[in-house]
Amino acid sequence: DRSLVIAPSILSADFSRIGEEVQDVVDAGADWVHLDVMDGHFVPNITFGPPVVKALRRWTDATFDCHLMIAPADPYLAAFADAGCDIITVHAEAGPHLHRSLQTIRGLGKKAGVSLNPGTPENVIEYCLDLIDLVLVMSVNPGFGGQKFIESQVEKVRRIKAMIGDRPIDIEVDGGVSPDTVGALAKAGANAFVAGSAVFKGDGKQAYAANISAIRDA
Ligand code: DX5
Ligand code: ZN
Repeated sequence: DRSLVIAPSILSADFSRIGEEVQDVVDAGADWVHLDVMDGHFVPNITFGPPVVKALRRWTDATFDCHLMIAPADPYLAAFADAGCDIITVHAEAGPHLHRSLQTIRGLGKKAGVSLNPGTPENVIEYCLDLIDLVLVMSVNPGFGGQKFIESQVEKVRRIKAMIGDRPIDIEVDGGVSPDTVGALAKAGANAFVAGSAVFKGDGKQAYAANISAIRDA
């Protein structure tokens, strides 16, 4: 089985001291850092782009798990690769050429991810499996942290796990992940867990470490 990954989303961090927050959460035991990029078009919120990713790259060597909630994504893939993303995830709904986007990401030497909104069925990835390193199952509608977990996505994780068989693909879940929801997701086949509000609560490194441990143990 794939190794267990906790990927805190800095969407819930203090953006005025985002570098220190990244360093603190990695010191607190984060495996990856999840970077939520939003364009105000694909999702109804705006966050940050390649310059911020590049600036954060100086604070840690941890894997940068970059979740692009932007459409179109293709014109920006090279910029995110250059900025220091290790995994670049595009949404299946973000354009008509998912297969080409994944080819482009692999061509840039990065790991390629595909994300599915809660309303999108898993079969859209079937003919892309040989180009995919990670499937990101959204368990909330993307755009904001702190939303309620959508239960139906546990079954989607189970179906994706069956679909990928023994291919070396991570299954990551994003949205409303907490000690209460993580167990069922792991049982269904997910191995990587994004958490924003459940990690960045309380003040600083000690609190983050306790929050990460609680998710890991659950
Ligand atoms: C939602 C983002 C998530 C979000 C998760 O659009 O993709 O990464 O920050 O936040 P929580 O864990 O609070 O649901
Ligand atoms: Zn995300």
